Formats: sequence, C-alpha cells, structure tokens
Amino acid sequence: MEAMHASVLGSGYVGATLAACLADLGHDVTAVDIDKTVVERLNAGDPPIAEPGLDELYSKHVGDRLRATTDYDAVLDTDLTFLTVQTPAREDGSIDLSVVLAAAEQLGETLAAKDDYHLVVVKSTVIPGMVEEEVVPAIEAASGKREGEGFDVAVNPEFQSQGSAVEDFMQPDKIVLGTDGDNGPDRALARLHEVYEPLVERSGAPIVETGRREAAMIKYANNVFLASKISLINEIGNVCKEYDVDAYEVADAIGLDERIGAQFLRSGAGFGGSCFEKDTKALIAAARAADYEPELLDAVLGVNETQPRRMLELLDDHVDVAGKRAAVLGLAFKSGTDDTRGTRAFPVIDGLLDRGAEVVAYDPVAIENTREQYPDIEYADSAAAALDGASGALVVTDWDEFAALDEEFTTMAEPVVIDGRRIIEPTDDIVYEGLTW
Ligand SMILES: NC(=O)c1ccc[n+]([C@@H]2O[C@H](COP(=O)([O-])OP(=O)(O)OC[C@H]3O[C@@H](n4cnc5c(N)ncnc54)[C@H](O)[C@@H]3O)[C@@H](O)[C@H]2O)c1
Repeated sequence: MEAMHASVLGSGYVGATLAACLADLGHDVTAVDIDKTVVERLNAGDPPIAEPGLDELYSKHVGDRLRATTDYDAVLDTDLTFLTVQTPAREDGSIDLSVVLAAAEQLGETLAAKDDYHLVVVKSTVIPGMVEEEVVPAIEAASGKREGEGFDVAVNPEFQSQGSAVEDFMQPDKIVLGTDGDNGPDRALARLHEVYEPLVERSGAPIVETGRREAAMIKYANNVFLASKISLINEIGNVCKEYDVDAYEVADAIGLDERIGAQFLRSGAGFGGSCFEKDTKALIAAARAADYEPELLDAVLGVNETQPRRMLELLDDHVDVAGKRAAVLGLAFKSGTDDTRGTRAFPVIDGLLDRGAEVVAYDPVAIENTREQYPDIEYADSAAAALDGASGALVVTDWDEFAALDEEFTTMAEPVVIDGRRIIEPTDDIVYEGLTW
C-alpha cells in the first residue's frame, strides 16, 4: 500500500477518531481544528473526547505520522481533506450548514495556493443536494478553481457509534463512497479506494459506490431507521409494562426473526447522542421543505420524549420527592462515552427539579459535561454516595458498574429504584420498577 497524506478538518468525535485511525492504517495525517485547546491536547496524546482505544492511538502515532494544528496551510501538503465539522440543528430542526460552509470557504482559500489535484471528502452529515448546491460553490468561490479541474468533492458518510468509535471505524459494516457524474468520479474514487484499501484488507468491509446525493441520504436513512427501531421497541415496551409483560423476553423472541434482527431491541429510557434526534429532525424538516409530511418520523421523536416522562411517573407511583434527595445514576447518553448531548438524563433531571427534588447525580465520566448545563445540582463521586439518603433513584445510563450495586441501595432513605436500562439486579431490599418490564 502507498501511504497517503490526509488532512482532517474538525477534531471532534468523528474527526479525532478518523485522524487517529487513518494514521493507524499507515497514512500520514494532519488534524486541523480551529480550537487551540483541542489541538494542544491531541498533540499531547490526550484527546479531549473519551473513546475506548483513542488515547492509545494518539500516544502511538503523535510525533510520528499524526499531528494536529490550527493552521489550514497543512492542507497543502496533503492529497485529500476530510471535512468532519459539526452540522447542528437550527431551532426548527433543519440542518445548520454554516460551520461546514465556513470550513469549506477556508479550505477553498487554502486550495487556491495548491498546484496539484486535491480531493475533498465530506464526512459531516448533510442533506442530499447540499454538497452540490452549497459546499462545492463555496470552495469554488474561495479557491477560484472549478470542481472537476483543481479538485473534486466526494461524500463519504460516517457510521461510527460513540463509545465504540475506534472499533466501529476499524470494523465497519460498509464504506459508502459517493461521487458524481462529470466531476471526475474515477479520479475521486481511485483516491478514496487508496485511502481505504488497508481498512478493506483488514476488515473485509464492503465498499458501496454510489452518487453523492444517495451517499448523503444513506446516512440519514441509516440513523433514522435505527432511531425508529428504538422508538418502536420502546412503544411496544410501554404497552408490555401496562400488561405486566417483560418486554425483554418479547424482544429476545422477535429478534430471532431475521427480518427483525436481534440488535437495538433493548427497550428503555430512549436514545440520546448528537445524531439520532438531530438527523431525524433534519430529515423531517427536509421532507416538509419538499411538501411531504413525514408522519412516522414525528412519532419516533414523540416516543423518545415519552420515555423519561414515564420513568418519572413510575417514581411518582411510589414516592413524592418534593424537598427530598433524588439520585440520578448515569448522565452520559450511553455507556462508554462522556457525551451528554441528547442524553435522557437531562429530561429526568428537569422532571425531578420540577417536582421540587434535590437532585444528586453521578456518572463515572460525564459529570463535567453535565455541570455546564446544571451548575447547581449536587454531584456525587460514586454511585454509593449518590444513593446515600436518597428517596428514589433513576438509572439512565447502562454503565457496567451499576450492575454491581446491591448493599448500596440499603443506605437510601426510600429505596425506590426506577431502572431505565435493565442494569440493576432487583432485591427484596428495594422497590424496583423496570421501565418496560
Ligand atoms: N458524533 C458521532 O458519533 C457522529 C457519527 C457519525 C456522523 N457524525 C456527523 O459528523 C459530523 C461531526 O460530528 P462530531 O460529533 O464529530 O462534531 P463535534 O462537534 O464533536 O466536532 C466538530 C469539531 O470541528 C471543529 N471545527 C468547527 N469549525 C471548524 C473549522 N472551520 N475548521 C476546523 N475545525 C472546525 C470544532 O472545533 C470541533 O472540534 C456531524 O455532521 C455529525 O452529524 C457524527
């Protein structure tokens, strides 16, 4: 394999992982971010995001074939640039492309000084059409070059999950390469194949070659399908609970049907993270903009809002928390990450505060990220400390350490445990309510 020189714009969850993994595959990689602190931490081998295996990759490759900088000129020494900056939701749910366009413009200005061919690869999640209609024109205007001449733009969505991002990158189910029509697809595809060749050799992952619009839609369809599956099993789970049926036994059985599949059938507190909600909202907004009313997608979000409310209602059935300590176990949107974006813990905390409870929260890694949003609640340094004297505990994240809790519940003032993740072992000492079982 010929090692390639790659630059990665944006060193967040996707970019920081991509840069390290590309280096691990043997490429020479420069991560570019506008945030100086992020760059300093990456260069110190201490990435600012918590992902299993990521620290090791930075320790191994920084100083050799991996580095970070705030200087876009680093792009000039590379064969291709991955764009991995954020695509947040606007107030109305539609996608806010301004960060991507700012990065595209800065990239274009830099490419003006590059003599040889460059490939730009959009990894950020964008609505079909946005690359051709907005990103390419931004690069063209800033670089003074036409697409297909000095550069091409491809779409290569990312399917990694936080908490297993490195593993997902190294063992992908698929690699989707979107290139188009007249705009040098052969040249762009050839370069992408070179980049991914060592990954394909290592993982055996299939490459899907498609158009740019299709590649962009594959990412939305993938995420929205998964979000829908979660909301569907959660809705079934809610009905199960009403009928005293264990939704996990139901899920185990229906998961044996290959048309359904066994994954994503753990009903509970709902999905969080930066993508499922954002991408579902973006697709809803895109559908409405095209005068199509997406009935099912609205319901996917609706059920997800219901789940934390149902946890609080189950708590209400056993204890009035007004003026009392109430514990929240788990703040990260899922185990294995410190990310609290979209976490179901926040509506749970809001509901407890609305009821007049004194909230005490614990998470092994996500307290700092929660403190930004809730500076005034109490934070415990262990699950045991959070439970001590609490009237009610709501379990929102499936951290393994919660499965080992036992005696700790006996220190609660009122040992009512509402489990949103089926992680707690019920005992005779506690009043235990599973959300969907
Ligand atoms: N988080 C995930 O698990 C995941 C998975 C698949 C796809 N995605 C998509 O990937 C994209 C990035 O998501 P993320 O979670 O990594 O975002 P993030 O917010 O964690 O990181 C974005 C990074 O880009 C940097 N940045 C902003 N403007 C820049 C500029 N002009 N030049 C260089 N750097 C700049 C920011 O400082 C930040 O470090 C989004 O479109 C998202 O939908 C995310």
